[in-house]
Amino acid sequence: MAKIKIAVLFGGASSEHEVSLVSAYSVLNNIPQDKYEVTCIGITKKGHWMYYPGEYEHIKTGEWENDPDCCTAVISPDSLNKGIIVMGSDGAYIRRVDAVFPVLHGVNGEDGTVQGLCALAGLPCVGCDMTSSAVCMDKSITHTILDTAGIKTAKYVCIQRDVLGDIEKACDDIESRLGGYPMFVKPACAGSSVGVSRAADREALRAGIKVAFAHGNKVVIETEIIGKEVECAVLGNGTDLIASIPGQITPAEEFYDYDAKYKLGTSVLDIPAKITPEETEKLRAIAKQAFHAVGGSGFARVDFFVTKDDIILNEINTIPGFTPISMYPKLMDNIGIPYPELLDRLIQLALERYSEG
Ligand SMILES: Nc1ncnc2c1ncn2[C@@H]1O[C@H](COP(=O)(O)OP(=O)(O)O)[C@@H](O)[C@H]1O
Ligand SMILES: [Mg+2]
Repeated sequence: MAKIKIAVLFGGASSEHEVSLVSAYSVLNNIPQDKYEVTCIGITKKGHWMYYPGEYEHIKTGEWENDPDCCTAVISPDSLNKGIIVMGSDGAYIRRVDAVFPVLHGVNGEDGTVQGLCALAGLPCVGCDMTSSAVCMDKSITHTILDTAGIKTAKYVCIQRDVLGDIEKACDDIESRLGGYPMFVKPACAGSSVGVSRAADREALRAGIKVAFAHGNKVVIETEIIGKEVECAVLGNGTDLIASIPGQITPAEEFYDYDAKYKLGTSVLDIPAKITPEETEKLRAIAKQAFHAVGGSGFARVDFFVTKDDIILNEINTIPGFTPISMYPKLMDNIGIPYPELLDRLIQLALERYSEG
C-alpha cells in the first residue's frame, strides 16, 4: 500500500517556537515509517516557511534554519492545486500531501490560523479545527464557552488595552469583581506560562497587567485557585472520546511557569494523579464534556485544579506539548497507547474527520 504523505509543520512565529522544535523532534522520530512518508516544513520565528529535507537532530537545536537545502515552501490555499508549493532552485513545484500535522504551539499555529489555511487548502489537519483551536487559544473565550456549558472555571475578568489609559480605575474594578488577592494575570492568547504572573497586591497587579499586554491585546485576570494541578489527555472525534487517567504536576517554582515547565525539569509528574477515584471519574467526564463543548476534534490536554471540594477547569491545550517530558504522550502511554500508535491514531482521526466533511 502506498504510504500516506504527511506534512509536519514545526517551529512557528510564536513565543513557544523552541518548545515546538523539541515536540516536533519527538513526533518525527516516532511516526511509523512503514505507513507514513513525511515532509518537514519548518517555520522560523519571523514566520518564514521552509521545506527542510535534513536531519531531524538539527531541528531540536534550531540549526535546521541554516541548512543550504532549505527552500521556501508554503501550503497552497488553492484546493485544486493541493499540497505544498516548494520554491526550489529549479523553479516551483507542488509536493502532494494527504494531511498536515501542525506541531506548533501558541499563536500562529495552535490558534486556528494554520487550521484555517488547511481548511482552505482542502487538506486534513491533525487536531482541532479552526474554530475550536481559536476558542481554546483565547482564555477569555474559553471561559465564556465553558460558563455556557456549565463547566466551572476560576472567577475572571477580561480587559483590553484601553484600560491602560486609567490603570488605577481598572485595578479598582478588578479588585471589586474578583473580591481580592491573590490573582493570576495572563495574556488571553499565549501559552507555556509566557507573560503569566501571580499578583499578591495592587503593585504586582499593575506590573502583571503591563507584562501580559506585551504579549497581546487582551488580558485575563483570575482569582487564585488553591489546589492540585491535574491534567487529562483527550483523544477522539465527536462524542467518541477517550479521556486518560489524569496526571498531576507539582511545580518546581511558585507556580508552573516557563522555567518549571521546560528548563529546570524538576517539576514532578505523577501518573496517576493523587486524587480520589471519585474525583478521577468526575474529572475525566468533565474533560470529555469540555472538549465536546468547544467543538474539539483529534486531541487536547484539558488542565484542571482539583481543590479541597471542587474540580475547576483551567485551560484546554489543543496542541499540547509533545516533548519526551510532556504530559500528553505520557498519559496516553499510561493507558496503553504508545507514542507511535498515538501519532498513527491522530493522523487517522484527521483523515476520518475530513472524509466525514
Ligand atoms: N487561577 C489560577 N490559580 C492558581 N494558579 C494558576 C491560576 N491560573 C494559572 N495558574 C498557574 O499558572 C500556570 C500557567 O497558567 P495557564 O493558565 O495554564 O497558562 P498557559 O496557557 O501559559 O499554560 C498554571 O499551570 C498554574 O500553575
Ligand atoms: Mg497551562
